[in-house]
Amino acid sequence: MICELRETIADPTAHPVLDLVPPEDSFREEVVRGLQAVPKQIPSKFFYDERGSQLFDEITQLEEYYLTRTEIGILHQHIGAMVARIGSHVLLVEYGSGSSLKTRIMLDHLMEPAGYVPIDISKEHLMQSVAALAKAYPELAIQPIAADYSSPLTLPAWGADNVVVFFPGSTLGNFTAGEAEAFLNQVAHVVGPGGGLLLGVDLKKDRAVLEAAYNDRKGITAAFNKNLLVRINKELGGTFDLDQFTHEAFYNETEGRIEMHLRSSHNQVVQVGSDTVSFLEGETICTEYSHKYSLDDIERLTAKAGFSVEEVWMDEHQWFAVLYLVAH
Ligand SMILES: C[S@@+](CC[C@H](N)C(=O)[O-])C[C@H]1O[C@@H](n2cnc3c(N)ncnc32)[C@H](O)[C@@H]1O
Repeated sequence: MICELRETIADPTAHPVLDLVPPEDSFREEVVRGLQAVPKQIPSKFFYDERGSQLFDEITQLEEYYLTRTEIGILHQHIGAMVARIGSHVLLVEYGSGSSLKTRIMLDHLMEPAGYVPIDISKEHLMQSVAALAKAYPELAIQPIAADYSSPLTLPAWGADNVVVFFPGSTLGNFTAGEAEAFLNQVAHVVGPGGGLLLGVDLKKDRAVLEAAYNDRKGITAAFNKNLLVRINKELGGTFDLDQFTHEAFYNETEGRIEMHLRSSHNQVVQVGSDTVSFLEGETICTEYSHKYSLDDIERLTAKAGFSVEEVWMDEHQWFAVLYLVAH
């Protein structure tokens, strides 16, 4: 599906969200299809209703979750070099913008940005983030888009000198390699030849560090994982008993990814509206992949979509990398 973005160039004083979020039917369809598949799997994009976005924000503050603070550290340390690469009068497009907190580091340093387009599937959270951002940057033209970024988007011309996509948080890692390649192809199309991609990725490291980040002691990641079932119960007439499923996250070394699952504690039958789903004791629903990369992995993956790596910045432990890539 091509989502045509109508000519709604932002008035800097008003930021109506362009709502391209797929209807509830598609949530139901994808959930039922995923629960009928073997093995059971539901896309991680469905974690993010308003509550899911709040829980994700709590995760970013956890001691075990090194990703956010490490990436923010890299951004602060190298922002001068990053904005020099990006140049002036740029249209900044952010995929999975969430609370747009990392964006503020960019906006504090970018030279006369032409505008900012945050794209996120979590519409209410997006609206709250944009309201806060608009207060802090009253002169900035902002066009929020509530959409599933796995479908292609077409942006209008903004009269910008360049288009740069910001994709932090290692959110790329939620895609399989094939999906990531398709997504990066779309990004290359959005920025056009000479356009840029500022990409944050989590690097391969010690299993204990990785697994701790997705199994926090306070149980916030478990609540985030189970929020998927809460959503299904609330929005799709589901009958999941949250106490009959346990959160699980482990590093799959062969695939180079953290896998998050919900494990059924016994044989049970669950309704999702009029659909019936059976679970065996110990059976899981896979709810998220978080792929971890080497720099070579990223260079290879992005090259397939026509990007070349211009510069790489890392923290002192080489746990996380921010790369600036240019599309051909
Ligand atoms: C891991 S969080 C990262 C948030 C923020 N960019 C950061 O770096 O902290 C992923 C973000 O992407 C959004 N998201 C996930 N899948 C999406 C999809 N298919 N389309 C649009 N937004 C999506 C979520 O709502 C969430 O805000």
